[in-house]
Amino acid sequence: MSKRFFITTPIYYVNDKPHIGHSYTTIVGDVLARFHRINGEETFYLTGTDEHGANVAEVAKAQGKTPQQLCDQNSQLFKAAWEKLDISYDYFVRTTDQRHEKAVGKLLTEMNRAKVEGKPAVYQGEYTGLYCLGCEKFLTEKELVDGKCPNHLTVPQRITEKNYFFRLSGFISQVESLIRSGKIKIVPEERKLETLGLFKQGLEDFSISREKVTWGIPLPFDPKQIAYVWVDALPNYISAIGYGDNPKEFQKWWTKAEVIHLTGKDILKFHNVFWPAMLLAVGVKTPDMVVNHGFFTVKGQKMSKTLGNVIDPHYLVEQFGADATRYLLLTQFPFGLDGDIQADRFVEKFNSELANDLGNLVSRAAKMIKDYCQGAIPEAKAYDKSDEEIRSLATQTTQKVMELIYEIRVTAAIEEVFKLVKKANQYIESSAPWNLAKNNDFEKLNTKLYLAAEMLRIISALLYPIMPNKAAQIREVLGFSEKELIPSLLKAKEWGVLPAGQKLGKIEPLFPRMDKQAKKVEANVEDNLISIEEFGKVQLKVAEVKEAEKVAGADKLLKLKVNVGDEEKQIVAGIASYYQPKDLIGKKIIVVNNLKPATLRGIKSEGMLLAAQDGKSLVLLTVDKDIGSGAKIS
Ligand code: MSP
Repeated sequence: MSKRFFITTPIYYVNDKPHIGHSYTTIVGDVLARFHRINGEETFYLTGTDEHGANVAEVAKAQGKTPQQLCDQNSQLFKAAWEKLDISYDYFVRTTDQRHEKAVGKLLTEMNRAKVEGKPAVYQGEYTGLYCLGCEKFLTEKELVDGKCPNHLTVPQRITEKNYFFRLSGFISQVESLIRSGKIKIVPEERKLETLGLFKQGLEDFSISREKVTWGIPLPFDPKQIAYVWVDALPNYISAIGYGDNPKEFQKWWTKAEVIHLTGKDILKFHNVFWPAMLLAVGVKTPDMVVNHGFFTVKGQKMSKTLGNVIDPHYLVEQFGADATRYLLLTQFPFGLDGDIQADRFVEKFNSELANDLGNLVSRAAKMIKDYCQGAIPEAKAYDKSDEEIRSLATQTTQKVMELIYEIRVTAAIEEVFKLVKKANQYIESSAPWNLAKNNDFEKLNTKLYLAAEMLRIISALLYPIMPNKAAQIREVLGFSEKELIPSLLKAKEWGVLPAGQKLGKIEPLFPRMDKQAKKVEANVEDNLISIEEFGKVQLKVAEVKEAEKVAGADKLLKLKVNVGDEEKQIVAGIASYYQPKDLIGKKIIVVNNLKPATLRGIKSEGMLLAAQDGKSLVLLTVDKDIGSGAKIS
């Protein structure tokens, strides 16, 4: 009996817009889902957005929106990106869906009823911890770098509140043995070891509710408390398939399917430990596999808004098309590991691997069939040794690729397909059909070209999950009808499927070479960098502080009068927590002199002063030696 697959991505936070990090996981999931589907295996592919939590509420407030408005708007951005990238998800779950909220309510109620080692699985307690608003989680001292959250570079807040706790300690040994025995398979192996390392370090019970947060799902047994974001988010994997409202569907896609969660390594603990433990508490099957893939850097640096190297998937799709974008992202480094995305080499890679190797193979083979065989698939007669070799390589490749897909070795699977592409090119080269035509050896010529066409058919099937549109285009060239454009891998394991006499379709270049665009990719990747001309627009000057006073009713603001040369200006600055007004008088500071005036708390501010800040302290920028006020800075 063939297996059934349920494949999931993490649900993405709506306070960010989709970038290639999210795209990467989602494309991998799509490739897996498509491979299984065309291999005749029933598959459900789930993705969605994670919409609750203090962070979302805060971003919404800053943008003058209600949290729900922000969620509606940003979940749409993810849907739009997935549409552009041809992601064939079966369901898009949103944690603000009523259906999801109901399922979380059910899960929490059951967790609250559950007992472990004679004690309740959920209990009340008090929690004090260092909470990072950005991460939506408490951080341990060990996780901090220089007292700050390493991801957000902010100092976490120390918070004490009443919480409900989940007795993780009661389930740890069960989860550990499920992982050790491979019942929950963690891939890659490295992450399995990392997970086992967590057990060794010791894991504490975790809090499942928040008192302060308002944007979230209330606990059914204490509605004043809001479910902790992860306790709300993880159940998306079951709410989406009917845990709360459709037991039959739930049976089908959870209990009786191979459940594969794809996540980045950043959220390993939640998926590999917390989630299985929560499921064990309520007597639901644990996932079969969790894939914690690596993180990529962009040209050696971590992707970040400040560095300006966040690549927008829409931009890549506009430059390269959806198919090539999928290919380029997936083939940067072996799936699972950490690696570097070398976006400045995308054009080169596009030209050599897609335009040359694959594109030329298709156009060359099709053109010869058109020229030598009146545009119809020829008939093969006797195969020689080289024909037999390439034929068995083609049929074996399908088997090999599928084995790699079962092991979630996506990059290796793509490499196998492209090995076949290369071999097919070499086969055509060494068979030299043009010489056979010259020598009127039509029987051999027909055989060689039939083989080339069959290879294209198999290649098109293997490419479909990776590049669905281009695969369909190859099949159109081969003369397949509309309904055969989605291939079957079962057929790709067979040989001799193309009927002799089938008329070829229109031959158009699969991947027209790219030339001039090369620079543009780099320019966009670095779009937060500014030119010297742009910087030149900012007029920085030395100013002398003449007066300083607190702004009534605003703890953080000071009102300064400064001289910038002959000019007197009023500047309102948020430095009251760091400087006493009297200490500022006479200081030479640096100001942005040509900033549009703004009104802060009803007071006009005609410029901005420069200060350095590291989360703990703030210091004003000043000059190294004395210099007249109004001096230009360049
Ligand atoms: N909302 C949580 C997940 C809840 S799942 C029940 C979350 N969301 S997220 O928006 O931050 O997405 C994190 C995921 O995005 C990572 O696990 C990974 O799949 C993907 N990636 C984000 N940046 C990435 C890279 N730089 N490299 C590779 N994948 C990246 O965490």
